[in-house]
Amino acid sequence: MEKGKMIHEGKAKQLFLTDNPDEVLVWFKDDVTAFDGGKKGTIQSKGILNNSISSFFFELLQSRGISTHFVKKLDERGMIVKRLSIIPIEIVVRNISAGSLAKRFGWEEGRRLTKPVVELYYKDDALGDPLINRSHAAALDIAAPTQLDVMEDTACKVNLILERFLATKNLLLVDFKLEFGTHKGQIMLGDEISPDTCRFWDAITNEKLDKDRFRRDLGNVEEAYREIWLRLGCNA
Ligand code: C5P
Repeated sequence: MEKGKMIHEGKAKQLFLTDNPDEVLVWFKDDVTAFDGGKKGTIQSKGILNNSISSFFFELLQSRGISTHFVKKLDERGMIVKRLSIIPIEIVVRNISAGSLAKRFGWEEGRRLTKPVVELYYKDDALGDPLINRSHAAALDIAAPTQLDVMEDTACKVNLILERFLATKNLLLVDFKLEFGTHKGQIMLGDEISPDTCRFWDAITNEKLDKDRFRRDLGNVEEAYREIWLRLGCNA
């Protein structure tokens, strides 16, 4: 595999061309940001851990019939994925109140929701990724209603698969964010699935094992990411 030129650099990942025009290389960095880039840092080994964890989740989801961009884990920090045209919408699914949902409604964190809440956010850094609804998406002309149907339906399926699987590892899936794109006209799950993009709590103690440890200065950030990696058996 030939590592070509870098075509994109995000907050946590870099994207490189490969010798296959249909595939790109994702390279996971140790950099971490929160609050729209207002807080920056690095977490030792995060890129290695998130590459392993994301590869693990993508393989699990593909084995359950979810179409994802994942092709293979290349090395410690590298993952080969199908090249997507990204749909600029973040889909957030929530099972337990936390973060911006808890803040919006004045709820305490940890309240189990009667059914999962699915939210859409417009992926636009300059606007701070605002919460939108389907009619905003139509007005912005960023996704067709049929595409939103597929994205929301897939996000709900992903939630069921991950929630049930994580329960066997004594983990609660509090909430998570997904991104989608199209490849040769087909909608696929893209981006990453990791403690950067999900809230994972220990099922017994409710200890936070995700990026909230960085956002809220709780300490032991690397240890929390490593704990997720260990419980998934990514070291095996
Ligand atoms: O901050 P908020 O409560 O809205 O986040 C909901 C979920 O989406 C969390 O798991 C968070 O890590 C994830 N998220 C993300 N990227 C964003 C916004 C939220 O991964 N830009």
